[in-house]
Amino acid sequence: MADAAYHKFRTDRAPAPSGCPVNHDFSPFASSYMANPYAELERLRGEQPVFYSEELGYLVLTRMEDVAEVFRNADVFSSENVQDPVLPICDEAAQVLAAPDYNPIAVMSNRARPDHTRIRKYTLAGFSGRRMRSLEPFIRRRCETMVDAMLTAGSPVEFVAALGHPLPGETIFRFIGFPEADDAKLKEWTTNRLAFTWGNASDAEQVDIATKMLSYWRYCVSFVKMRQSEPADDFTSELLAAHAEDADELSYKEIESIVYGLSFAGHEIVTNFLSNGLVSLLSDRQQWEALCADSSLISNAVEEILRFNSPQTSWRRVALEDTEIAGYKIPAGTQVFLSLASANHDEAVFDDPESFDIHRENARANIAFGRGIHFCLGNRLAIMEAQITLETLTQRVPSLDLVADQTFEFFPNFTFRGPKELWLKWGG
Ligand code: HEM
Repeated sequence: MADAAYHKFRTDRAPAPSGCPVNHDFSPFASSYMANPYAELERLRGEQPVFYSEELGYLVLTRMEDVAEVFRNADVFSSENVQDPVLPICDEAAQVLAAPDYNPIAVMSNRARPDHTRIRKYTLAGFSGRRMRSLEPFIRRRCETMVDAMLTAGSPVEFVAALGHPLPGETIFRFIGFPEADDAKLKEWTTNRLAFTWGNASDAEQVDIATKMLSYWRYCVSFVKMRQSEPADDFTSELLAAHAEDADELSYKEIESIVYGLSFAGHEIVTNFLSNGLVSLLSDRQQWEALCADSSLISNAVEEILRFNSPQTSWRRVALEDTEIAGYKIPAGTQVFLSLASANHDEAVFDDPESFDIHRENARANIAFGRGIHFCLGNRLAIMEAQITLETLTQRVPSLDLVADQTFEFFPNFTFRGPKELWLKWGG
């Protein structure tokens, strides 16, 4: 596969930087870590804030200061590895993706400068205030309809299936411009995609996910072709108009790949954002009731959810040249695991970080959306979806509560964290 490939399948593994502590126990694939990474990260921040993980082959950073520094230093720490499967994929899955027409390229999160700067000019313009405002009524209407259906079905309800997965899915599909008639198959293709890159999926799961990725890629290719002859008021048509104006500035192939990457970037992560938010709020009745009584508190509560229980707990970089982090000499080629979960609980930045507090004054200092040139493009959209969901639920179902004694099972990957199922009840 060419270097600009969307996913690069690596087999190399950089050794521990000399003098850097090696941790033989850190295991982010362990179900206990996925269920709750925070206790272990708190201990590590105190005892060994920078270490080389034997299991991952990555240098792990846990402090806000170090994580933010790496994000900011894009010339030295490249994001080209962020879409690469962490573990080697099996031959059968690799074969599925070896189809000659499966050829998406790196365009956003894993594209380096100067191309990233050139492309981001157009993707950023696509997330304009006008586009966000035009989506808002759709999100409100669909959220109301899904809550109506929940109430009609009756308590208890499984939230992920009822709203958490479909609402962000439909939102990103409308943003891109996909027709509503295709929603069912699109939702099916985009489920559990995260396990492929960031998980420890079985061979059978990898083949299943790879097959859906191929179908979805082919769908994106024919959708972009269709939009070229039938433009509409959507993100894809805006990109195609920019391409028509100057094909050297934004290529047709780049547009296909942007569309392909976007629904992954903007779907299941928001599902987890909504679920994690409800888990945190409903675990502390007083804070939920405060939101029911005063919806102006929701905006800061959303920031605190991003800090305390973020749907994205880590991200990655690779050192392009010999450099230094926290006093350790890091050779070029070192892969770096940035623990966003740990940075968001760093006691050097947040008082009493293990407490969830919707009134926290500096909740906005969280690093859930990253920093620097790759700062999350969808941040406003994700926040709007959470805001609308919480406004709707606090107004319409103030008696909402967690079904007692449920054990959460988490999507099996170490970067995107949220419960597979979340059972909610209401009405006393
Ligand atoms: C709560 C939800 C979300 C979280 C926590 C989140 C987090 C992140 C993070 C940490 C990055 C990497 C930043 C970096 O490398 O410096 C990122 C990049 C990105 N996100 Fe999000 N994201 C969320 C929702 C979304 C949504 C809804 C969309 C799309 C509609 C989206 C699209 C993107 C894109 C396209 C990038 C790459 C930007 C670039 O490289 O220029 N994200 N996001």
